[in-house]
Amino acid sequence: MKRSELVFTRDISGTFSSYLDKDTRQAIIIADNTTKTACLPLLRHSFPVISFPPGELSKNLNNLQMVLDGLLVHKADKNTLIINLGGGVVTDMGGFAASIFKRGLDYINIPTTLLGMVDAAIGGKTGVDFHSYKNYLGTFYAPEAVLISEQFLDTLPKIELDNGWAEIVKTAVIADPELVQMIKSGKNFLGDIIASVSATKQRICDEDPFDGNVRQLLNFGHTIGHAYETCRIDNNDPVMHGMAVARGMLYETGLAARLGMLSVDDGEFISNLIREQTKSPDLTEAEFNSLLPFLQGDKKNSGTGITFSLPTGIGTGAYGVKVDMADLKI
Ligand SMILES: NC(=O)c1ccc[n+]([C@@H]2O[C@H](COP(=O)([O-])OP(=O)(O)OC[C@H]3O[C@@H](n4cnc5c(N)ncnc54)[C@H](O)[C@@H]3O)[C@@H](O)[C@H]2O)c1
Repeated sequence: MKRSELVFTRDISGTFSSYLDKDTRQAIIIADNTTKTACLPLLRHSFPVISFPPGELSKNLNNLQMVLDGLLVHKADKNTLIINLGGGVVTDMGGFAASIFKRGLDYINIPTTLLGMVDAAIGGKTGVDFHSYKNYLGTFYAPEAVLISEQFLDTLPKIELDNGWAEIVKTAVIADPELVQMIKSGKNFLGDIIASVSATKQRICDEDPFDGNVRQLLNFGHTIGHAYETCRIDNNDPVMHGMAVARGMLYETGLAARLGMLSVDDGEFISNLIREQTKSPDLTEAEFNSLLPFLQGDKKNSGTGITFSLPTGIGTGAYGVKVDMADLKI
Protein backbone atom coordinates (compact mmCIF):
# COMPACT_ATOMS: atom_id res chain seq x y z
CA MET A 1 0.00 0.00 0.00
CA LYS A 2 1.28 3.48 -0.80
CA ARG A 3 2.54 5.76 1.98
CA SER A 4 0.38 8.82 2.57
CA GLU A 5 1.85 12.25 3.18
CA LEU A 6 0.54 13.91 6.37
CA VAL A 7 0.36 17.69 6.01
CA PHE A 8 -0.43 19.90 9.04
CA THR A 9 -1.55 23.44 8.38
CA ARG A 10 -3.17 26.47 9.98
CA ASP A 11 -3.94 27.81 6.50
CA ILE A 12 -6.02 25.12 4.79
CA SER A 13 -6.91 27.30 1.81
CA GLY A 14 -3.24 28.08 1.05
CA THR A 15 -2.10 24.50 1.64
CA PHE A 16 -4.92 23.11 -0.49
CA SER A 17 -4.05 25.52 -3.34
CA SER A 18 -0.38 24.63 -3.26
CA TYR A 19 -1.22 20.92 -3.09
CA LEU A 20 -3.33 21.31 -6.24
CA ASP A 21 -0.67 23.43 -7.98
CA LYS A 22 1.48 20.33 -8.07
CA ASP A 23 -1.47 18.56 -9.53
CA THR A 24 -3.61 20.11 -12.22
CA ARG A 25 -5.92 17.16 -12.80
CA GLN A 26 -9.69 17.35 -12.65
CA ALA A 27 -10.91 17.09 -9.05
CA ILE A 28 -14.24 16.12 -7.47
CA ILE A 29 -15.13 16.80 -3.83
CA ILE A 30 -17.09 14.31 -1.73
CA ALA A 31 -18.71 15.74 1.39
CA ASP A 32 -21.76 15.35 3.56
CA ASN A 33 -24.40 18.08 3.51
CA THR A 34 -23.03 19.63 6.72
CA THR A 35 -19.36 19.70 5.72
CA LYS A 36 -20.44 21.06 2.32
CA THR A 37 -21.91 24.07 4.13
CA ALA A 38 -19.54 24.44 7.09
CA CYS A 39 -16.17 23.36 5.66
CA LEU A 40 -16.16 23.72 1.88
CA PRO A 41 -15.97 27.56 1.99
CA LEU A 42 -12.62 27.30 3.84
CA LEU A 43 -11.06 25.62 0.79
CA ARG A 44 -11.93 28.61 -1.46
CA HIS A 45 -12.11 26.43 -4.53
CA SER A 46 -14.93 25.44 -6.80
CA PHE A 47 -14.94 21.85 -7.92
CA PRO A 48 -17.98 19.67 -8.51
CA VAL A 49 -19.33 18.39 -5.19
CA ILE A 50 -21.11 15.11 -4.47
CA SER A 51 -22.81 15.16 -1.08
CA PHE A 52 -25.19 13.07 1.04
CA PRO A 53 -26.95 13.46 4.41
CA PRO A 54 -24.58 13.43 7.41
CA GLY A 55 -24.28 10.61 9.93
CA GLU A 56 -23.47 6.93 10.30
CA LEU A 57 -26.76 5.77 8.77
CA SER A 58 -25.56 7.31 5.46
CA LYS A 59 -22.51 5.04 5.32
CA ASN A 60 -24.28 2.39 3.27
CA LEU A 61 -24.48 0.82 -0.18
CA ASN A 62 -27.26 3.16 -1.37
CA ASN A 63 -25.17 6.26 -0.76
CA LEU A 64 -22.07 4.55 -2.12
CA GLN A 65 -24.00 3.96 -5.34
CA MET A 66 -25.12 7.61 -5.31
CA VAL A 67 -21.46 8.72 -5.01
CA LEU A 68 -20.41 6.37 -7.83
CA ASP A 69 -23.30 7.69 -9.99
CA GLY A 70 -22.02 11.21 -9.27
CA LEU A 71 -18.53 10.27 -10.43
CA LEU A 72 -20.06 8.98 -13.66
CA VAL A 73 -22.14 12.16 -14.14
CA HIS A 74 -19.06 14.34 -13.60
CA LYS A 75 -17.13 12.16 -16.06
CA ALA A 76 -14.43 11.10 -13.60
CA ASP A 77 -11.60 9.30 -15.33
CA LYS A 78 -8.37 7.59 -14.25
CA ASN A 79 -6.73 11.02 -13.78
CA THR A 80 -9.45 12.52 -11.60
CA LEU A 81 -8.44 13.37 -8.02
CA ILE A 82 -11.09 12.63 -5.38
CA ILE A 83 -11.11 15.00 -2.39
CA ASN A 84 -12.91 13.68 0.70
CA LEU A 85 -13.96 16.59 2.91
CA GLY A 86 -15.55 15.45 6.15
CA GLY A 87 -15.47 13.17 9.15
CA GLY A 88 -14.94 9.42 9.16
CA VAL A 89 -18.21 8.72 7.34
CA VAL A 90 -17.08 10.79 4.34
CA THR A 91 -13.46 9.59 4.30
CA ASP A 92 -14.49 5.91 4.72
CA MET A 93 -17.16 5.98 1.99
CA GLY A 94 -15.34 8.42 -0.32
CA GLY A 95 -12.15 6.37 -0.01
CA PHE A 96 -14.12 3.20 -0.82
CA ALA A 97 -15.66 4.86 -3.90
CA ALA A 98 -12.21 6.04 -5.02
CA SER A 99 -10.79 2.54 -4.56
CA ILE A 100 -13.33 0.78 -6.79
CA PHE A 101 -14.25 3.36 -9.45
CA LYS A 102 -12.44 2.31 -12.64
CA ARG A 103 -10.33 0.05 -10.38
CA GLY A 104 -8.97 2.95 -8.38
CA LEU A 105 -8.61 6.74 -8.53
CA ASP A 106 -6.16 8.82 -6.50
CA TYR A 107 -7.69 10.60 -3.53
CA ILE A 108 -6.82 12.86 -0.63
CA ASN A 109 -8.54 13.17 2.73
CA ILE A 110 -9.27 16.49 4.39
CA PRO A 111 -10.66 15.46 7.80
CA THR A 112 -13.00 17.95 9.43
CA THR A 113 -13.73 16.17 12.73
CA LEU A 114 -11.25 15.56 15.52
CA LEU A 115 -11.86 11.80 15.15
CA GLY A 116 -11.10 12.03 11.45
CA MET A 117 -7.87 13.99 12.04
CA VAL A 118 -6.44 11.55 14.58
CA ASP A 119 -7.77 8.29 13.19
CA ALA A 120 -10.32 7.73 10.42
CA ALA A 121 -8.61 9.71 7.64
CA ILE A 122 -5.28 7.93 8.15
CA GLY A 123 -4.22 4.41 7.20
CA GLY A 124 -6.29 3.60 4.13
CA LYS A 125 -9.10 1.51 5.64
CA THR A 126 -12.17 2.38 3.57
CA GLY A 127 -15.67 1.00 3.62
CA VAL A 128 -19.37 1.12 4.34
CA ASP A 129 -21.67 -0.64 6.79
CA PHE A 130 -23.65 -3.62 5.43
CA HIS A 131 -27.11 -4.32 6.86
CA SER A 132 -26.39 -3.54 10.49
CA TYR A 133 -22.76 -4.70 10.47
CA LYS A 134 -20.10 -2.02 10.82
CA ASN A 135 -17.55 -1.65 8.01
CA TYR A 136 -18.37 -5.08 6.54
CA LEU A 137 -17.60 -4.01 2.97
CA GLY A 138 -14.37 -2.23 2.24
CA THR A 139 -10.84 -2.08 0.95
CA PHE A 140 -7.35 -1.12 2.03
CA TYR A 141 -6.55 1.84 -0.21
CA ALA A 142 -4.42 4.71 1.07
CA PRO A 143 -4.90 8.40 0.27
CA GLU A 144 -2.11 10.29 -1.49
CA ALA A 145 -2.16 12.82 1.33
CA VAL A 146 -4.09 13.81 4.44
CA LEU A 147 -4.36 17.58 4.93
CA ILE A 148 -5.00 18.28 8.62
CA SER A 149 -6.15 21.69 9.81
CA GLU A 150 -7.56 22.62 13.21
CA GLN A 151 -9.44 25.44 11.48
CA PHE A 152 -12.30 23.02 10.81
CA LEU A 153 -12.77 22.42 14.53
CA ASP A 154 -14.18 25.94 15.03
CA THR A 155 -17.60 24.78 13.82
CA LEU A 156 -17.48 21.25 15.24
CA PRO A 157 -20.02 20.68 18.06
CA LYS A 158 -18.43 20.08 21.49
CA ILE A 159 -19.85 16.55 21.69
CA GLU A 160 -17.96 15.66 18.51
CA LEU A 161 -14.73 16.76 20.23
CA ASP A 162 -15.40 14.34 23.10
CA ASN A 163 -16.05 11.70 20.43
CA GLY A 164 -12.61 12.36 18.89
CA TRP A 165 -10.92 12.21 22.28
CA ALA A 166 -11.88 8.53 22.54
CA GLU A 167 -9.58 7.62 19.64
CA ILE A 168 -6.81 9.89 21.01
CA VAL A 169 -6.91 8.11 24.37
CA LYS A 170 -7.08 4.72 22.61
CA THR A 171 -3.89 5.29 20.62
CA ALA A 172 -2.09 6.71 23.65
CA VAL A 173 -3.09 3.94 26.07
CA ILE A 174 -2.31 1.02 23.76
CA ALA A 175 0.74 2.26 21.88
CA ASP A 176 2.27 5.53 23.03
CA PRO A 177 3.33 6.16 26.67
CA GLU A 178 4.71 9.64 25.82
CA LEU A 179 1.34 10.64 24.44
CA VAL A 180 -0.31 9.54 27.71
CA GLN A 181 2.08 11.91 29.54
CA MET A 182 1.29 14.71 27.08
CA ILE A 183 -2.44 14.29 27.71
CA LYS A 184 -2.08 14.01 31.50
CA SER A 185 0.16 17.08 31.75
CA GLY A 186 -2.66 19.21 30.30
CA LYS A 187 0.02 21.61 29.03
CA ASN A 188 -0.16 20.86 25.33
CA PHE A 189 -2.20 22.56 22.65
CA LEU A 190 -4.77 20.39 20.90
CA GLY A 191 -2.83 20.91 17.65
CA ASP A 192 0.29 19.31 19.19
CA ILE A 193 -1.76 16.36 20.40
CA ILE A 194 -3.39 15.92 16.98
CA ALA A 195 0.05 15.96 15.31
CA SER A 196 1.40 13.42 17.77
CA VAL A 197 -1.55 10.97 17.58
CA SER A 198 -1.85 11.10 13.80
CA ALA A 199 1.90 10.50 13.41
CA THR A 200 1.67 7.47 15.73
CA LYS A 201 -1.26 6.07 13.75
CA GLN A 202 0.58 6.62 10.45
CA ARG A 203 3.74 4.97 11.85
CA ILE A 204 1.80 1.87 12.95
CA CYS A 205 -0.04 1.66 9.61
CA ASP A 206 3.23 1.99 7.69
CA GLU A 207 4.60 -0.91 9.72
CA ASP A 208 1.54 -3.11 9.18
CA PRO A 209 -0.60 -1.66 6.35
CA PHE A 210 -2.96 -4.65 6.02
CA ASP A 211 -3.78 -5.13 9.70
CA GLY A 212 -1.96 -8.45 9.98
CA ASN A 213 -0.28 -7.82 13.33
CA VAL A 214 0.74 -4.66 15.21
CA ARG A 215 -1.98 -2.47 13.67
CA GLN A 216 -4.50 -4.64 15.48
CA LEU A 217 -3.43 -2.85 18.69
CA LEU A 218 -5.56 0.04 17.44
CA ASN A 219 -8.62 -2.19 17.86
CA PHE A 220 -8.46 -1.60 21.63
CA GLY A 221 -12.03 -0.83 22.73
CA HIS A 222 -13.40 -1.82 19.32
CA THR A 223 -14.47 -5.44 19.94
CA ILE A 224 -17.04 -4.34 22.51
CA GLY A 225 -17.35 -0.87 20.93
CA HIS A 226 -18.28 -2.20 17.48
CA ALA A 227 -20.78 -4.69 18.93
CA TYR A 228 -22.41 -1.86 20.89
CA GLU A 229 -22.38 0.41 17.82
CA THR A 230 -23.85 -2.36 15.65
CA CYS A 231 -26.55 -3.05 18.24
CA ARG A 232 -27.48 0.64 18.26
CA ILE A 233 -27.51 0.81 14.43
CA ASP A 234 -29.74 -2.28 14.45
CA ASN A 235 -32.14 -0.39 16.73
CA ASN A 236 -32.06 2.60 14.36
CA ASP A 237 -30.57 4.64 17.19
CA PRO A 238 -26.89 5.06 16.19
CA VAL A 239 -24.35 6.14 18.78
CA MET A 240 -21.24 8.17 17.95
CA HIS A 241 -18.32 5.90 17.07
CA GLY A 242 -16.00 7.40 19.69
CA MET A 243 -18.63 7.10 22.40
CA ALA A 244 -19.06 3.40 21.58
CA VAL A 245 -15.28 2.91 21.61
CA ALA A 246 -15.00 4.74 24.96
CA ARG A 247 -17.53 2.34 26.52
CA GLY A 248 -15.66 -0.54 24.86
CA MET A 249 -12.31 0.64 26.27
CA LEU A 250 -13.75 0.92 29.78
CA TYR A 251 -15.07 -2.64 29.60
CA GLU A 252 -11.93 -4.04 27.95
CA THR A 253 -9.63 -2.35 30.51
CA GLY A 254 -11.58 -4.14 33.25
CA LEU A 255 -11.33 -7.39 31.26
CA ALA A 256 -7.52 -7.04 30.93
CA ALA A 257 -7.28 -6.58 34.71
CA ARG A 258 -9.56 -9.59 35.35
CA LEU A 259 -7.42 -11.73 33.05
CA GLY A 260 -4.31 -10.68 35.01
CA MET A 261 -2.77 -8.92 31.98
CA LEU A 262 -2.92 -5.46 33.56
CA SER A 263 -2.23 -4.37 37.13
CA VAL A 264 -5.18 -3.04 39.12
CA ASP A 265 -3.42 0.35 39.54
CA ASP A 266 -2.74 0.73 35.82
CA GLY A 267 -6.32 -0.35 35.11
CA GLU A 268 -7.65 2.38 37.39
CA PHE A 269 -5.34 4.97 35.85
CA ILE A 270 -6.49 4.04 32.33
CA SER A 271 -10.19 3.94 33.24
CA ASN A 272 -9.97 7.36 34.87
CA LEU A 273 -8.16 8.79 31.83
CA ILE A 274 -10.92 7.46 29.53
CA ARG A 275 -13.67 8.90 31.76
CA GLU A 276 -11.95 12.29 32.13
CA GLN A 277 -11.23 12.78 28.44
CA THR A 278 -14.38 11.32 26.85
CA LYS A 279 -17.03 11.95 29.55
CA SER A 280 -18.27 8.46 28.68
CA PRO A 281 -20.22 6.32 31.15
CA ASP A 282 -19.54 2.61 31.63
CA LEU A 283 -21.84 0.13 29.89
CA THR A 284 -24.84 -0.81 31.98
CA GLU A 285 -25.65 -4.49 32.48
CA ALA A 286 -28.67 -4.17 30.17
CA GLU A 287 -26.55 -2.53 27.43
CA PHE A 288 -23.88 -5.22 27.80
CA ASN A 289 -26.43 -8.04 27.54
CA SER A 290 -28.02 -6.50 24.45
CA LEU A 291 -24.70 -6.31 22.57
CA LEU A 292 -23.71 -9.96 23.18
CA PRO A 293 -25.53 -11.35 20.09
CA PHE A 294 -23.56 -8.91 17.92
CA LEU A 295 -20.14 -9.96 19.20
CA GLN A 296 -20.09 -13.18 17.15
CA GLY A 297 -20.54 -11.20 13.94
CA ASP A 298 -17.44 -9.07 14.52
CA LYS A 299 -15.18 -9.46 11.50
CA LYS A 300 -12.11 -9.57 13.77
CA ASN A 301 -13.23 -12.99 15.05
CA SER A 302 -12.31 -16.34 13.56
CA GLY A 303 -12.72 -19.80 15.05
CA THR A 304 -13.89 -20.05 18.64
CA GLY A 305 -13.60 -17.25 21.14
CA ILE A 306 -13.75 -13.50 20.77
CA THR A 307 -10.61 -11.58 19.81
CA PHE A 308 -9.47 -8.53 21.77
CA SER A 309 -6.62 -6.03 21.81
CA LEU A 310 -5.99 -5.23 25.47
CA PRO A 311 -3.74 -2.88 27.44
CA THR A 312 -0.89 -4.52 29.35
CA GLY A 313 0.40 -1.28 30.89
CA ILE A 314 0.14 2.47 30.36
CA GLY A 315 1.05 2.86 26.69
CA THR A 316 1.57 -0.82 25.87
CA GLY A 317 -0.77 -3.60 24.75
CA ALA A 318 -1.28 -7.06 23.28
CA TYR A 319 -3.35 -8.03 20.24
CA GLY A 320 -5.01 -11.31 19.21
CA VAL A 321 -6.13 -12.14 22.78
CA LYS A 322 -8.84 -14.84 22.55
CA VAL A 323 -11.47 -14.91 25.26
CA ASP A 324 -14.30 -17.44 25.53
CA MET A 325 -17.79 -15.99 25.25
CA ALA A 326 -18.58 -17.65 28.59
CA ASP A 327 -15.87 -15.55 30.30
CA LEU A 328 -17.40 -12.27 29.20
CA LYS A 329 -19.50 -10.78 31.95
CA ILE A 330 -20.06 -7.39 33.47
N1 LIG B 1 -11.11 4.09 8.48
C1 LIG B 1 -10.71 4.10 9.74
O1 LIG B 1 -9.55 3.74 10.05
C2 LIG B 1 -11.63 4.59 10.81
C3 LIG B 1 -11.17 4.81 12.11
C4 LIG B 1 -12.05 5.30 13.06
C5 LIG B 1 -13.38 5.56 12.71
N2 LIG B 1 -13.80 5.32 11.45
C6 LIG B 1 -15.20 5.59 11.05
O2 LIG B 1 -15.43 6.98 11.19
C7 LIG B 1 -16.83 7.18 11.37
C8 LIG B 1 -17.03 8.23 12.45
O3 LIG B 1 -16.42 9.43 12.05
P1 LIG B 1 -16.80 10.83 12.71
O4 LIG B 1 -16.89 10.67 14.18
O5 LIG B 1 -15.88 11.82 12.13
O6 LIG B 1 -18.33 11.03 12.27
P2 LIG B 1 -19.03 11.77 11.04
O7 LIG B 1 -18.25 11.67 9.81
O8 LIG B 1 -20.43 11.23 11.02
O9 LIG B 1 -19.08 13.29 11.51
C9 LIG B 1 -19.79 13.63 12.67
C10 LIG B 1 -20.76 14.79 12.43
O10 LIG B 1 -20.00 16.02 12.42
C11 LIG B 1 -20.36 16.78 11.27
N3 LIG B 1 -19.17 17.57 10.93
C12 LIG B 1 -18.02 17.10 10.41
N4 LIG B 1 -17.10 18.08 10.37
C13 LIG B 1 -17.70 19.20 10.84
C14 LIG B 1 -17.25 20.51 11.07
N5 LIG B 1 -15.98 20.88 10.85
N6 LIG B 1 -18.13 21.41 11.56
C15 LIG B 1 -19.42 21.03 11.85
N7 LIG B 1 -19.89 19.79 11.69
C16 LIG B 1 -19.03 18.88 11.19
C17 LIG B 1 -20.76 15.75 10.25
O11 LIG B 1 -21.58 16.31 9.26
C18 LIG B 1 -21.50 14.74 11.11
O12 LIG B 1 -22.82 15.17 11.35
C19 LIG B 1 -17.45 5.84 11.71
O13 LIG B 1 -18.18 5.37 10.61
C20 LIG B 1 -16.23 4.95 11.96
O14 LIG B 1 -16.48 3.61 11.61
C21 LIG B 1 -12.96 4.85 10.49
